[in-house]
Amino acid sequence: MTMGGHQIMKIYKTANYYEMSRKAANIISAQVILYPRSVLGLATGSTPVGVYEQLIRWYDKGDIDFSQVHTINLDEYCGVPGESVQSYCRFMQRHFLSKVNIKPAHAHIPDGMTTDVDAECRRYDALIEALGGIDLQLLGIGHNGHIGFNEPGAAFEKMTHCVALKDSTRRANARFFDSHMDVPEKAVTVGIRQIMWSKQILLIASGKEKQDILHQALHGPVTPQVPASILQMHPRLTVVYSE
Ligand code: PGA
Repeated sequence: MTMGGHQIMKIYKTANYYEMSRKAANIISAQVILYPRSVLGLATGSTPVGVYEQLIRWYDKGDIDFSQVHTINLDEYCGVPGESVQSYCRFMQRHFLSKVNIKPAHAHIPDGMTTDVDAECRRYDALIEALGGIDLQLLGIGHNGHIGFNEPGAAFEKMTHCVALKDSTRRANARFFDSHMDVPEKAVTVGIRQIMWSKQILLIASGKEKQDILHQALHGPVTPQVPASILQMHPRLTVVYSE
């Protein structure tokens, strides 16, 4: 984890969700065009959908080639089969992976159906290390300040691990399930240590209800109570948001 030293935080305020998505996609496409073998850390949730749509449009025009890119997704629910519509595996297929030329063998998501979650976490850690770490990590921010599924109170030094989801997170994600009680109680998530090891971080947020937590994360105290606040210590953080 890079602490101290020079932190460069770039903040782009954009006019609306479309512009936020376009700006963030622009940063990702520049990364891939300059470094075709990039390892991209990817995120699920409503916020990145527009970023993926924009990347797909540029891919369709022939502007970006993902054939050498590897992707590492942040997290996955435990106990939700990969083919289920609620799994993050399926989400990524639907919104991005099946629409661009990322090789299936290059697209990585934790296995939430594993019977040995500790072994799965260690496998994922080893995979990230073998790929040389994440070049650019795309992140959304939860209403409670979580990044990935690193919930408030999570130790900053954790690697990939299994988490018990907060009730607020289960309620926020209930829109993808029949009810909030159907949202899994556990998930596997990449840890904050790995997020901080990424060479570059791209944090996106959109909507009035995210403004307060975004402000706390970027300008408030660095504390595990607001997991995203650790990003203030990252040497290369870019924030793209709209109100
Ligand atoms: P959202 O989720 O993009 O669906 O708001 C963000 C997050 O929980 O990280």
